[in-house]
Amino acid sequence: MIRKRVAVLGSTGSIGINTLDVIRRHSGRFDIVLLSAFNNVELLARQIREFRPDKVAIAQAHIPSMSAMFGKKAAFFDVERDLAALVAEKQVDIVVIAMSGSAALDPFLSAVRAGKEVAPSNKEALVIAGDILMREAHRSGARIIPVDSEQSAIFQCLEGHRREDLRCVHLTASGGALLRVPKSRHRQLTVKDVLKHPRWKMGAKITVDSATLMNKGFEVIEAQRLFSLAVDQVKVVIHPQALVHSLVEYIDGAMIAQLNVTDMRIPIQYALTYPQRLDTGFKGLDLVALKELTFELPDLDKFPSLALAFEVARRRGTFPAVLNAANEVAVEAFLSGKLSFTGIYKVVERTVLAHRASGTLSLKNIRESDAWARSAATRFLGKGK
Ligand SMILES: NC(=O)c1ccc[n+]([C@@H]2O[C@H](COP(=O)([O-])OP(=O)(O)OC[C@H]3O[C@@H](n4cnc5c(N)ncnc54)[C@H](OP(=O)(O)O)[C@@H]3O)[C@@H](O)[C@H]2O)c1
Repeated sequence: MIRKRVAVLGSTGSIGINTLDVIRRHSGRFDIVLLSAFNNVELLARQIREFRPDKVAIAQAHIPSMSAMFGKKAAFFDVERDLAALVAEKQVDIVVIAMSGSAALDPFLSAVRAGKEVAPSNKEALVIAGDILMREAHRSGARIIPVDSEQSAIFQCLEGHRREDLRCVHLTASGGALLRVPKSRHRQLTVKDVLKHPRWKMGAKITVDSATLMNKGFEVIEAQRLFSLAVDQVKVVIHPQALVHSLVEYIDGAMIAQLNVTDMRIPIQYALTYPQRLDTGFKGLDLVALKELTFELPDLDKFPSLALAFEVARRRGTFPAVLNAANEVAVEAFLSGKLSFTGIYKVVERTVLAHRASGTLSLKNIRESDAWARSAATRFLGKGK
């Protein structure tokens, strides 16, 4: 059996840890050749001892201490400066992009240009530059197999079907921590309230995005890019049990759904071993024990971030980059106690409304819009409280 050589970007995060767990289970099939993290050097050191990658990328400030700890056993690189070049090296077969934020864009683009297999859980890069990433993947032949559970579900439901027969996709949303919390209480919500996700255990940023439904809005844009869909072909439905990960509807009215227990190791493993399926250790759902699978429309008045994301998806261009950057600033401010929960939407909406689209879409335009949105959102923070 040929062993796949894997780069895991963001190995110390929630998805990164789950990815390493999948690889541990199938250690005969994979070699970790590159790990990247940012500041969590303690966990990273344990991962290096266990998986013995040749190369490791980390925030520059940690390189001297990590190099001293590992000597010649691993080579350390600056994650911000070197990661894009490292993922393109010939000893990498598949790149799992599990790092958070727009910092993933450069390594993602580099992996795609180098024709690698790419397994992204990161949504930000696809949201802000999905058109460019997909165009480059088409050019190089890079295969993108999404890890995000909803996109993985759509990918799986599209397999073996004619694309021209597709009517639309239905993205499911658990509804996050606030599904049943009345809008009147949103202003007083604390970080602790918002971080209590009922179904998934995830990083703090994405848990807040799930509570505002901005996460679902990002997924609308992500799905649009990954599967070349018109905005009207992407529907969102609340499904609190989070067992149906998404559905695809064909022109004859047939709908195909993908279900499994809520554990990210299932879509991660699917992406790593595609097109093969291997034992994950998980059973299928106990259909008889399932009490109910319910679906409801999202309340756009209570969760205006989702409506805003649809509007941004329609406008395309640099608007998704602005939406993402403003949201990063606002969520960070909320997590550090500088902004109320309802302030997140106000700051993001103000920034999107103030944006003036610039020319044809290019990386330069995206980066400029991202920088503009960060400073505009920072200015609006005081007014968003
Ligand atoms: N968690 C989920 O279940 C889930 C599901 C679907 C999609 N996603 C998406 O997957 C991505 C990762 O989510 P997560 O929940 O795993 O996040 P997380 O737990 O916060 O982990 C983020 C990872 O990225 C690294 N990182 C952060 N900033 C970085 C930077 N500027 N440069 C390089 N590395 C950086 C972190 O390093 P340190 O920890 O070492 O600082 C960590 O390894 C996000 O885009 C998220 O939206 C997550």
